[in-house]
Amino acid sequence: MPNTIAFDVYGTLIDVHGIVQHLEQWIGDDASAFSNRWRDKQLEYSFRRGLMRNYADFASCTHDALEYTCASFDNPLSISQKSTLMEQYKALPAYEDVAASLKKLQVSGHRLYAFSNGQAATVDSLLSFANIRTYFIDIISVETLRTFKPNPDVYEYFLKQTCAEAQQTWLVSSNAFDIIGAHHAGLNTAWIQRDTNNIFDPWGAEPTVTANDLMAFSANLAIKS
Ligand code: 2OP
Repeated sequence: MPNTIAFDVYGTLIDVHGIVQHLEQWIGDDASAFSNRWRDKQLEYSFRRGLMRNYADFASCTHDALEYTCASFDNPLSISQKSTLMEQYKALPAYEDVAASLKKLQVSGHRLYAFSNGQAATVDSLLSFANIRTYFIDIISVETLRTFKPNPDVYEYFLKQTCAEAQQTWLVSSNAFDIIGAHHAGLNTAWIQRDTNNIFDPWGAEPTVTANDLMAFSANLAIKS
């Protein structure tokens, strides 16, 4: 039985910390901590804007979070370095396990979609740069709704746009907030825990499956289907 599978993009298909190699040349040992704080603040800004109903696109959340992170590290970057980083954020690498897993799922007849806070055009070029765009039927972006994950409206919107039923739909994400949001909307969920130090929020809403990478998820789905 083919499933509809919604793949979260940043942090699930695409390694946002691929930016560290660029940061290291400018800020050395602080690069990893800087990248973590930038990602955390980017997501925090999306949550706040969703709650406030004060939408700005995900690229704006990313940019504002970069400005915050610079200030919190005593402004180690120039205007041109920040502009370069924002460009490099549009061309981040896919995780190593992604392409082969997507191919396996596509060959198995599942309907694959990218599903992201990012603007559709930005995600399209990001996935093209990472050589994984061809595996997806389409890119479903929350920008149309002018809100962000985990607003329940975005999961309903995904089901409507893909003519899918929640029971035959999976949300695949490394981001626990996204998994809990999709679970709340009635979707099956696969939490991709590449780093065993990542802790799932103790909310009592467990993922349908937990896998160490996408290949393990695709093997698990093959058994269930
Ligand atoms: C997404 O791609 C932000 O990872 C989240 O929607």
